[in-house]
Amino acid sequence: MARESELEAILEEFIGRLQRAFGSLSAVRGKRILDIASGSNSSRSPSTGKRTALFEPWFARLALELGAEPVALDGGDLDGERFEHHRLDLGLTGALDFLADASFDGVQDSRLFGSPEFRKAYPRQRDHDRVRAEIARQERRVLKPDGVLIHSDNPRRV
Ligand SMILES: C[S@@+](CC[C@H](N)C(=O)[O-])C[C@H]1O[C@@H](n2cnc3c(N)ncnc32)[C@H](O)[C@@H]1O
Repeated sequence: MARESELEAILEEFIGRLQRAFGSLSAVRGKRILDIASGSNSSRSPSTGKRTALFEPWFARLALELGAEPVALDGGDLDGERFEHHRLDLGLTGALDFLADASFDGVQDSRLFGSPEFRKAYPRQRDHDRVRAEIARQERRVLKPDGVLIHSDNPRRV
């Protein structure tokens, strides 16, 4: 935080999302939470293109500290993180098919589409539209009937 002051705002944003989604931070305990484009230890800044601590997997780390069971998905390096994580390409249709139907209490996707990694791999608008639709489909599929969409940047919401 001393090196990258914007991190404080990101952590506050994530705490607020969890509070609003589950009613309180104590209610997060025991929840199975999917974080799509979780951030990683190799993620880059959209403004500088350089590696940044801002997009480490803070949401999943917070959820873990609060007693939840986060599952983080990202194309970057998550080795050594203490929560379940999978390294995959979110641009591929079906990449999330390995996750069981109705298996999460909460899901979020956050800041995938503006990331330098995504824009480099998928520069075409039609790929963005396809991936947005696919993520919305997968979020609907993996959420339990009483599950909550914690946050989505996706206009095709669950
Ligand atoms: C800006 S960070 C977002 C981190 C966090 N979700 C947040 O809201 O702060 C974007 C993340 O998307 C990941 N990403 C970009 N393209 C991807 C792809 N095709 N497949 C998987 N992850 C990708 C990057 O590795 C990066 O960690």
